[in-house]
Amino acid sequence: MEIRSIRQDFAAEIAGLDLSRDIDAETVQAIWCAIDRYAVLVFHDQRLSDPQLHDFAARFGELEIGRSAARGGPRRLAIPQIGDISNLDLYGNVRALDDRRRLDSLGNRLWHTDASYMPVPVVLGMLHAVAVPPASALGGGETEFADMRAAYDALPAATRAAIDGLIIEHDVFWSRAQIGFTEFPAGEREQYPPSPQKLVRLHPGSKRKTLYLSAHASHVVGWPVADGRLLLLDLTTHATQPMFVYRHEWRVGDVVIWDNRCTMHRGRPHNEHQPRDLRRATTLDTGSTLHEAA
Ligand code: OGA
Ligand code: MN
Repeated sequence: MEIRSIRQDFAAEIAGLDLSRDIDAETVQAIWCAIDRYAVLVFHDQRLSDPQLHDFAARFGELEIGRSAARGGPRRLAIPQIGDISNLDLYGNVRALDDRRRLDSLGNRLWHTDASYMPVPVVLGMLHAVAVPPASALGGGETEFADMRAAYDALPAATRAAIDGLIIEHDVFWSRAQIGFTEFPAGEREQYPPSPQKLVRLHPGSKRKTLYLSAHASHVVGWPVADGRLLLLDLTTHATQPMFVYRHEWRVGDVVIWDNRCTMHRGRPHNEHQPRDLRRATTLDTGSTLHEAA
């Protein structure tokens, strides 16, 4: 396995591994080491079936069943732990512009970390590109990643002191409200109540402090909503400056792994009439951010 860093300590390309094969414990450990250092890993030329993606990801932790698969009912993909990050319907046709599921998934275009609205959030995201739309005037459906450790390090010392210990309420209804999406299926409000999370986390693998921000982050617990929202806006603007961002241009066969604890990501626009088909596996954490070491 060869590692080539894309930026200093952020994002690296990994060569020399075929993720469709059985990966030994030593290799799993080497990948964890690379994740702890670079936070985003890029593998090219992989061709994984959904079961292969599932089995590879499961080596890194218990897998999440996302909001859409948890809803039940017919689905395009058979394995509930494989998230359908596509613009395709059950039959593989591109969804209409006003399709409710499509509109919900457009929340992914906002800078976020996945599932931070869950009481116990997630760790690794792994996306595999099956179909990639052609370049268009609006973009090619790239995914951007921002380094929340570097963003934390770059804050003035006084700001770091002021935000230390703050608890943020994360709410999927808030991230969707920002893009005008409110048509959640009956019962989802009750199923996904807001969750409190630490704003500053200590990454257990690297021992680096990191900002835990997300489009789901609604306000600061104990502050007037407006004050908290404005602080989160300022921090997000700071943390997503180009100097902290790696932009991934997808090729079919790519696998990108990112650490949701210390990065944010967002999808970029693309031609909505062309298929874009990414498959995602996500590993669960084991405890609330409120109880982790600081
Ligand atoms: C995700 C996500 C962005 C994209 O899969 O979690 O936010 O570019 N994807 O599809
Ligand atoms: Mn996401």
